Amino acid sequence: MIIAMDGPSGSGKSTVAREVARRLGALHIDSGAIYRALTLAALERGLPLDDPARLAALAREVRLELEPTETGELRVRLDGCDVTDRIRSPEVTRAVSRLAAVAPVRAQVTERVRRIAAVARDAVADGRDTTTVIFPHADLKVYLEASAEERARRRARELARRGRPEPYEQVLRAIEERDRQDRERAVAPLRIAPDALVIDTTNMTIDEVVDTIVQAARERGATGGRRPVASAEPVEER
Ligand code: C5P
Repeated sequence: MIIAMDGPSGSGKSTVAREVARRLGALHIDSGAIYRALTLAALERGLPLDDPARLAALAREVRLELEPTETGELRVRLDGCDVTDRIRSPEVTRAVSRLAAVAPVRAQVTERVRRIAAVARDAVADGRDTTTVIFPHADLKVYLEASAEERARRRARELARRGRPEPYEQVLRAIEERDRQDRERAVAPLRIAPDALVIDTTNMTIDEVVDTIVQAARERGATGGRRPVASAEPVEER
């Protein structure tokens, strides 16, 4: 079974996707983490974020691994180095939507996510186009939304918890700017799939959102309880 979840930044997608995956014994695939890791690689190599050919070559060449830990968190490895924390830096967060607007980069990421899912029995993928482009035939599609103010409050709290506090107004502006870029881009813009279950999480707890999705997944035949696959085996080129 494939569950695909999209929504704007701060809608709670990654947290909810991780918990839904844990409850169903599925593999969590955070596609945003892949875009972030590629952005970090581009920044480190000094590649311009508007050079499609060089960015596409980078997206093809780097080795990327998403490895679930005991707690269900994903460790992200870029060419063997653990970059889990570095991909959440403000520099990467500011730059990622520019790289994510580059069509050949998106094609590479789409392929990588599909390959990871192909070797998992069940997967929960989250991002901006998992319901519309990566898995248009997902067994369950979910769109999470919340007001920009609530999303900024959540992000500000998370930054403070990680010891990198930023003023609320600044966080809100950054969220609104990323929303604009993700919704207005020409390739695979963020939008609601017609058959998605839309959940407004503004006044809901994480547990309530997770329960709603797990119940919808069970109605569609998810059994749960299987162990997640630890890492993705390479599959044949098509
Ligand atoms: O989910 P997260 O905020 O980590 O995603 C970072 C960025 O990656 C998004 O703002 C978006 O520009 C891009 N992204 C995307 N398509 C996806 C996942 C993420 O364009 N499927």
